[in-house]
Amino acid sequence: MKDSIRILMCPPDYYDVDYVINPWMEGNIHKSSRERAVEQWQKLYHIIKEHAIVDLIKPQKGWPDMVFTANAGLVLGENVVLSRFYHKERQGEEPYFKAWFESQGFNVYELPKDLPFEGAGDALLDREGRWLWAGYGFRSELDSHPYIAKWLDIEVVSLQLVDERFYHLDTCFCPLNDGYLLYYPPAFDFYSNRIIEMRVPEEKRIAIKEADAVNFACNAVNLDKIVIMNKASEELKQRLAEVGFTVVSTPLTEFIKAGGAAKCLTLRVTEPVQPEVHANVPVESRIIHLEGHLLDSGLISRALDIVVEGGGSFQVLNFNLGEQRQSTSSADVKVSAPSHAVMEEILSRLIDLGAVSLPEDERDARLEPVVQAGVAPDDFYVTTIYPTEVRVNGQWLRVQNQRMDAAIAIKYEPSGPVARCKLLRDLEIGEYVVTDVVGIRTVRKPESREQRNSQEFSFMSGSVSSERRVELVVEQVAWELRQIRDRGGKVVVTAGPVVIHTGGGEHLARLIREGYVQALLGGNAIAVHDMEQAMMGTSLGVDMKRGVAVRGGHRHHLKVINTIRRYGSIAAAVEKGVLKSGVMYECVKNNVPFCLAGSIRDDGPLPDTQMDLIKAQEEYARLLKGADLILMLSSMLHSIGVGNMTPAGVKMVCVDINPAVVTKLSDRGSLESIGVVTDVGLFLSLLVKQLEQLTAPYQVAQTR
Ligand code: ARG
Repeated sequence: MKDSIRILMCPPDYYDVDYVINPWMEGNIHKSSRERAVEQWQKLYHIIKEHAIVDLIKPQKGWPDMVFTANAGLVLGENVVLSRFYHKERQGEEPYFKAWFESQGFNVYELPKDLPFEGAGDALLDREGRWLWAGYGFRSELDSHPYIAKWLDIEVVSLQLVDERFYHLDTCFCPLNDGYLLYYPPAFDFYSNRIIEMRVPEEKRIAIKEADAVNFACNAVNLDKIVIMNKASEELKQRLAEVGFTVVSTPLTEFIKAGGAAKCLTLRVTEPVQPEVHANVPVESRIIHLEGHLLDSGLISRALDIVVEGGGSFQVLNFNLGEQRQSTSSADVKVSAPSHAVMEEILSRLIDLGAVSLPEDERDARLEPVVQAGVAPDDFYVTTIYPTEVRVNGQWLRVQNQRMDAAIAIKYEPSGPVARCKLLRDLEIGEYVVTDVVGIRTVRKPESREQRNSQEFSFMSGSVSSERRVELVVEQVAWELRQIRDRGGKVVVTAGPVVIHTGGGEHLARLIREGYVQALLGGNAIAVHDMEQAMMGTSLGVDMKRGVAVRGGHRHHLKVINTIRRYGSIAAAVEKGVLKSGVMYECVKNNVPFCLAGSIRDDGPLPDTQMDLIKAQEEYARLLKGADLILMLSSMLHSIGVGNMTPAGVKMVCVDINPAVVTKLSDRGSLESIGVVTDVGLFLSLLVKQLEQLTAPYQVAQTR
């Protein structure tokens, strides 16, 4: 074995911590002792020499990190991919390593300029030679992986590093003989951990704890059954012993001050090629185009964050900055992802932001037939609230019935293909469903240049809104309601029983009477307590005038339910003169349609309450069609339900005392949703007063 393994090392003649390019170096500039470093390096050198042949490269003055030969390049067989260092502090090492590889007769491959890759520090062969594990996220770029796969003719498995302390793959990951793996899972993102778990069976995975990880236990040199490292806990030594490995520890603390240890100080230059293994790169790249107020609205940074957080990487190819305040910018961005699944996830989020393909890359949407009614193909595209188009037979079709959390169904009708958002349960055999993320785009209005504009009225930022701010919103909403009524538009109200309990019932009733509301959505309770109030003067047994509980009052609402049941419906009770005022009364009297959706906790229910939830959802959707504004009054369930059914472009005003509800509804984009954290009764009384003021001069003019 001594003859078969060769390892390259570089004596620490010029080693020091001269700069900071990783967290370990922070606070350690010139703090390492050359003498101790030499002694530690010598010890390591002698240990390795017992098991392998060690080649030495001549150290160079001014390049203190050259001791870390793992970063010279990546060797496989006769071929080497030379490192391209990310930091200029190390780029000067490249020519020396290149010369050494050439002197040894290797074919040296060099990556394009500006495509960093830090050699065996970020690329580790499976010890069986089956594939190459390659890290990205800090030093090496994902886009380097396809080059490596091609030049070395091997499958590359890309892993994303997420903890800056473990900035090179070899600081947290060490493949061992016989398919074992020593690694620190928290250094990787979720998806990479899944890949590791899929490739390495559980009994072969040796996950270490943080205490070992920060001692660079993964930064180990494995030679047959020996694992050489700086330091290991008893627990780790034992765990390795159980599977036949012996830990040889040798202190390397002076090098840890620069962020490296045993493995970093070595480069294995004999890596045999497995003849049956060939290139395979799951890494995918796509170019997307973005347009809008990319900088001012933060769109570009949001897009790039989506790529990185999603496990991909990017390269901005073109950026045309709009020159005038009002002119928009555009950007072409190359997005890379370690696999198709990750690419789909990232692209679907970019599509939501309005990203499109370049015209020359446009492709038709991928369609798969529905083979079981009510079930979509696995890979179906999940819709959002934004107007969406899909490309079918080279034509962009606008998707109808836009809503979120649906599938896009294509039906070939005599007049041509039609695309619709459909809930999974409504999918029918004979339809085709859009899968994957090609041939899909959303149409976003260029976001306002300054997000600030909207903030005056959309301060759902968490805490309770101040009184003055509530007044401002009320003014805005009143104005909006007035305009919508005057042009014959549509306002839909969703309301919870709190509206009645907080004394808002009379105000809501008045809005309905005066023509500001075109549909009412809620549960059994809003109707029950409104009618209890109208018929018995209490709401949930509380006398609303005096604010005290009435004896026997807790049964009032059941009496009301019973009465309405006797008449058969709310409308019948109104007709018979039993119900004479309130929200429900006004709905009936003014022909304002309502839908009461049932729930598990309903008493009664009222004959009008729809206990078939699928029917209730359909009825909600029908009543919401064409809405210009939705006023959501203190009902988490009904408000969120309604939010899910409503496409972008519909204004929403959400009033709730619970900031969480308001925040939930306000993710939709600040221009469209206004959140008000306040008492709904108070809000309604202010709103009615405001409308009175708006209307007053108008009425005076009329009566004259
Ligand atoms: N100071 C060096 C750097 O930050 C340490 C390199 C460690 N090498 C490694 N293969 N992890 O680049």
